[in-house]
Amino acid sequence: MPDTNTLTTGSMAERADALEEKMARDLDVIVIKSRLHMWAEGDLGPTPNAGMLMRDRPGARILMGDDPRLPKMPEKPTLVDFFRLRFGPSMHLLQSARHAKRAGVSEKVVLACLLHDIAGVGFIRGDHGYWGAQLVEPYVEEEVSWAIRAHQALRFYPDESVGYVYPESYVALFGEDYQVDGYIEEEYKRAREHKWYMTGRLITMNDIYSFDPNVHVELDEFADIIGRNFRQPEQGLGFDNSPVAHMWRAMIRPAKYL
Ligand SMILES: [Fe+2]
Ligand SMILES: [Fe+2]
Repeated sequence: MPDTNTLTTGSMAERADALEEKMARDLDVIVIKSRLHMWAEGDLGPTPNAGMLMRDRPGARILMGDDPRLPKMPEKPTLVDFFRLRFGPSMHLLQSARHAKRAGVSEKVVLACLLHDIAGVGFIRGDHGYWGAQLVEPYVEEEVSWAIRAHQALRFYPDESVGYVYPESYVALFGEDYQVDGYIEEEYKRAREHKWYMTGRLITMNDIYSFDPNVHVELDEFADIIGRNFRQPEQGLGFDNSPVAHMWRAMIRPAKYL
């Protein structure tokens, strides 16, 4: 089995070989998109019929195991394994965490900055604060997951007392006349009164949107902080029977049929 990394890192010829082998391998499995995936592509069509797809591809099976297109995950995956093997580019998170560390905030705030957008890079974008908080809730201090949840709403609201202004990037991205949804406004009002308001606010203050492409931050820089502040389950994320284990399993095998 070719190393999947060869597909992105090898020479042209190596990449062509790896791709060919991978395609041959892929023929054995049929991947059926989830409804959420179909909606995301604007596809409102009928749910794909597994039986019909199998008739078109004799010998193939519906994907229930590891996805041959994705890097193989270890049996007991750690948070770091998800960063390395599943999450999309994480430089935004790493630069935000470094920014926080240099500002001299507590380790739990650095961790919150490191994890604040993990839903966006690994799971789902819409309401990423809520999904991200839920993903890490069993493994971090309550204050950390609270702040991750709140940052989504707090990003839209300036706080002059700490020099936080409405992000210029949001004007460019959403337009000058963009109005937040009602539930975001409600969330902001609740967060503003909350005892941990400033923890959520600190995430937004370290939430870096303009990257310096020359600054490269390695995840190793935060290995100690993760070790001390993220309760890595010994069975591996996804297999610890926590209330969110299935969400981590969904990232391990995102196209599993059942
Ligand atoms: Fe965010
Ligand atoms: Fe962010």
